[in-house]
This record gives sequence, C-alpha cells and structure tokens, in this order.
Amino acid sequence: MHVGIIMDGNGRWATKRGLPRLMGHKRGANRVKDIVKASPDLGVDTLTLYAFSTENWKRAAHEVEGLMKLFRGYLQNHFVELNEKNVRVRFLGDPSPLAADIRKQMELLTDLTKDNTLITLNIAINYGGRDELVRATRKIATLVKDGALDVADINEDTISAHLDTLQGDDPDLIIRTAGELRLSNFMTWQSAYSELAFVEKSWPEFTPKLFAEVLADYRSRTRQFGAVIPKTADISDT
Ligand code: IPE
Ligand code: IPE
Ligand code: MG
Repeated sequence: MHVGIIMDGNGRWATKRGLPRLMGHKRGANRVKDIVKASPDLGVDTLTLYAFSTENWKRAAHEVEGLMKLFRGYLQNHFVELNEKNVRVRFLGDPSPLAADIRKQMELLTDLTKDNTLITLNIAINYGGRDELVRATRKIATLVKDGALDVADINEDTISAHLDTLQGDDPDLIIRTAGELRLSNFMTWQSAYSELAFVEKSWPEFTPKLFAEVLADYRSRTRQFGAVIPKTADISDT
C-alpha cells in the first residue's frame, strides 16, 4: 500500500506555543523517523512525504533557509541508518534549485539504497504536481521530436512513466495533517483515485498510533474505481 502524507501545521504548532515557526519544523522533522519506522508493520510499502512544495519558496528567506538546513541535517543524520534499515529512498520534485551539496547527498542516498526492499520512502522536495506534469510533458515532447515516439501512442501509461514516481505507483491514501482541506499541488496526476484523510492534529503531533487509526479507517472504505461493487448483503439478496 502506498500512502502519501502532506505534513502540514508545523508553523501553527510552534506559534500556538509561542515558539518560532522553525521550532515547529524541527519537531516535524523528528516525527518522520517514527512514521517511517512504523510503516512496514502497518502494511505500508511506499510512503511519500511532502517536505517542500514548489510554492514554499514564497516564504520568508530565513524560513526557507531554515527548512533547507533541516533537510540537509536529516540527510546527514539518517544517511547510514536509512540504508541499514533497508529503506529505499527516492526524491520527487525538481532538484535543480537546491544547494549543490544537498543535491549530491540526494543522489548518493538514492544510489546507495536503490536495491533496498523493506519500504520505499519518497521525499517530495521542491515538488509540485503541475511542475512534475510540465517536466513530464517536455520529456515526452522530446521523444516525439526525436522520432522515438508516435503522438498516437501517447497514453496514460506514457504520462505515468515520465512522472517522478515512475511507472504509475499511485497513492492509495493521502493524509493531510492540521485540518486544511486541500491537496496544495501534491500528486496531481497520481491522486486521481486516492482516498483522502484529513486529520486535525498537526504534523508534530502525528504519532504512529494516530497513523494506525487513519489506516484502519481507510481499510473500512470501499474503493470502486468507477465500477459498482456489490456489497455482500446485495449478493445474498439475489
Ligand atoms: C508544513 O508546515 C511544512 C512545510 C510546508 C514545509 P507549515 O509550515 O505549512 O505549517 P503551517 O501550515 O503554517 O501551520
Ligand atoms: C503543503 O503545505 C506543502 C507541504 C506540506 C510541504 P502548505 O502549508 O505549503 O500549503 P498551503 O499553502 O496551506 O496550501
Ligand atoms: Mg501549511
């Protein structure tokens, strides 16, 4: 099962406690480890975390810098451990505006962990669903221009294959913390049939226990994908 999480509410968590917003981001970064650790036992084999959106550059420079510092620290502190724990790490988004040392760490970690099998952890950084579609469109257009692809052969699989998530691994469930009811440019293509869960608690308060509760609720839902799935009761009626 693939779960995407929009880790929202760090700023509000801090402000409510009279702390600077960056303290909320710090607490939020600390939550990641527990949630990754809890995932395999909860039946999650792919976890996609929205860490920084293409729109988040609009924030005050010191907040953006602080977030980049935290991201750099996360990569440094967890580099070895993620590999030892058999986590395959991938990054979604356009890395080009990120600092060279961060980009290097991202490449090294992706390469180091590429054959790991316990869980895939996608970290979305400088990620925007629309930006991802623009970049995919450019790749596909280049193939057409070079004569490697016929326009008539472009289908949904072609688009999926050129997204950052590769070959259509769509999230079964997208969770957003901190009560906002929107997707904020997360997985625009891939979320077409995702189940959605919005929780009131902010990301620094999101515990493995709460994660388990959200997953239990998800498992009680019926996913129809446009078809009509008869309920057991309906079947016995006929
Ligand atoms: C989510 O928390 C983290 C990022 C977007 C990087 P916010 O910083 O958006 O927290 P709120 O929404 O302001 O509380
Ligand atoms: C979405 O949260 C981005 C991440 C969690 C990384 P935002 O806080 O940036 O989203 P909006 O601005 O409330 O839509
Ligand atoms: Mg927010």
